[in-house]
Parts: sequence; C-alpha cells; structure tokens
Amino acid sequence: MNIVKKVSLKNFRCHEEFDLDCNRPTTLIIGENGSGKTSVLEAIYLALRGKSFKGVDKEILKREADFYRAEIELMDAQKIIIRFDGRKKEFEIDGKKSLRLPKKNRYPVVLFEPDDIYLVGSSPSRRRDYFDELFKQINENYGAALSKYNKALRQRNDLLKNEIVSRDDLFSWNVMCANYGAEVIRRRVHNLKKINEKMTDIYRNIAKNGDECSIKYIGAEVDENDYLKNLENNFERDCVLGYTTFGIHRDDYEFIFNKKKADGSASRGENRSMILSLKFIEAQILEQEVGKKPVVLLDDIFSELDEMRQRHLIDNFKNYQMIITSTAVPSEMRVDKKL
Ligand SMILES: Nc1ncnc2c1ncn2[C@@H]1O[C@H](COP(=O)(O)OP(=O)(O)O)[C@@H](O)[C@H]1O
Ligand SMILES: [Mg+2]
Repeated sequence: MNIVKKVSLKNFRCHEEFDLDCNRPTTLIIGENGSGKTSVLEAIYLALRGKSFKGVDKEILKREADFYRAEIELMDAQKIIIRFDGRKKEFEIDGKKSLRLPKKNRYPVVLFEPDDIYLVGSSPSRRRDYFDELFKQINENYGAALSKYNKALRQRNDLLKNEIVSRDDLFSWNVMCANYGAEVIRRRVHNLKKINEKMTDIYRNIAKNGDECSIKYIGAEVDENDYLKNLENNFERDCVLGYTTFGIHRDDYEFIFNKKKADGSASRGENRSMILSLKFIEAQILEQEVGKKPVVLLDDIFSELDEMRQRHLIDNFKNYQMIITSTAVPSEMRVDKKL
C-alpha cells in the first residue's frame, strides 16, 4: 500500500538538509507555520507528478543556494532524483536522465490543501484549475488536449487584438479550438458523471442523513461542429472585445446541494463534507482509472475540520499511504517528524 519510503532534500525552499522516513502507512509531520511542512509535500508531489503544485524551480531553490536536489525513494527501491542547477532541471531514475518525469513513473496523488475547503464558493478559474489538475491525472490525453487548446486560444486572441481581422484569419484557429475544446468538454462531462455517480452515497456516509449533492458542468456541452459554429457566430462580438468569448476557458463547475446551488444555500459544515466527499471520490477514481493507488497528501487541514470530519478523513483513507502535516498533533496520532 505504501509507495513513498524516504525523502531527502538539499536546498529545497527553507530546507538546507532534510530527511524523512515514511515507513508507516501514515506519516505525520509537525511544525510551526513557516517551518517547511508544505515544502516537504511539494517535493513528494514533484517526484510523483513531475511538477510542483505551487511554484517553479527558481522559487523552490533555496535563497542564496546554487542548486537543489530532491531524492525520493519508493518502496519498490526505485529512486527518483530531481536536480536543479538554477537554469535546468533534470530527473534521474535508475541512472536514466530526462527533462521530464516519464509517464510510466508517475503516480496519482490526492492533495488536500486548506484552500480546497473553500472550493464551493471560490472563483470559477480556481474551480477550473482544480478540476483540470484532477482530470489531467485521470487521463494524460486531457492535459494534452487542454494545452493544445490553450495554445490555439492564445493565437486567436492575439489576432483579435489587431485593428483589422477577417473571418479567414481566424478560421484555422477556430478549427483547432473547436477540435480540442470539444474533446475537453467530452472528458470533463464524462469525469463529472463518474464523480456524481458516487457523490451522494459518500456524502451520506459522512453526514448520516438524506441530503444529496452533485457537481454540475456550467458550459455548452457541444460537439466539434457546434463549437465551431459558436465561435463563428461570435465573430463580431469577439472582434469588438478583443478576446474569445465562447469556450471551455470560461466554463465552470457548480456544486449542487439538495437540488439548489450549494454556494449560498449549504452551510459551512455541509460545504466541508462535500469537499471531503470529493477527495474520497478522487482517490477511488484515480485508483480505478490509472490502476495505481494514489498517495494522499494532507497539508495542514486538521485545524479546518472538526473532530468528526478529521476522523472520517483518517478512516476513509486508511487503505492509502497518507502523509500529513499539521501545526498541532491530532488526537491519538504519533508524530514522525518534528520541524
Ligand atoms: N526558495 C526559498 N528559500 C528559502 N526559504 C524559502 C524559499 N521558499 C519559501 N521559503 C520559506 O520557507 C518557509 C516554509 O514554507 P512552507 O513549507 O510553506 O512552511 P509551512 O508549510 O510549514 O508553513 C517559509 O517561511 C518561506 O518563506
Ligand atoms: Mg504550509
């Protein structure tokens, strides 16, 4: 069940030297604010996903240092070494070097950060980013389609900023936006359906009542042809505004609680239980779709949850490797590292 065995860091954010053993199913890291807890999870995430969840390499590199190094040893004895020399980053796995973490070496991760608690009522762009990250983990093709879409969208928007632009100028970009945009919609709707199949059951397991919840896609669920028509119909408006008004970059996700928009109708506790449910579903779906058990990283969220929800969290993830950070020791847990 455990995947990560050991973490060794050099010049990684505030850590000049840092070592951690993760031999037990749950690893608890305790430390004051600013002591470097999130940075440890960032390093683990980097080794499992190939990319940080919060910053770029120049920010990670310890101030005044000229390199950072992160070595993550896995249970299967494999070592992932990440080096950054101030300009270039490289991954090394079993002696093989590469600029990116190879796909076969990636592991799914369920990351739970304090900000996630406010997902229901946060901005559409925050929610889009959240689900994009999840869907990229579920299927590599999602990330590929999304990044091709974003490139085409940027080109289209650049043209729209010009004084004069014709329908012909935009055509090839329209075709690309429609092609990749429709694929992204298809995958978003498909993944949401999977999430929604489980959502109410898992929520009721936490709340122990008859409430129901789901997540609704807010956007046009169109195929490629209709996507293209929408772009073409909006030509004049887009020219006046200087940007693309139709498309997946403006879509959103709405949490629904007892058939009403949760934001504004569900209570604080109900919102938290919905997010908890979503996290449990993420772990299940990632395991099903990727075929590898995700590592669960819980970053300083205990202070945000009451005891009942803390217990649910630990209980529901008991079959996964958990690496937890906190400022205070949650009840009945043993500390593995004190910062
Ligand atoms: N590149 C860096 N070099 C040195 N210190 C850094 C760097 N990046 C962040 N820090 C500092 O590291 C400290 C720890 O950050 P963090 O891991 O977020 O701590 P925690 O999660 O325990 O609150 C912060 O005080 C931050 O200012
Ligand atoms: Mg932190």
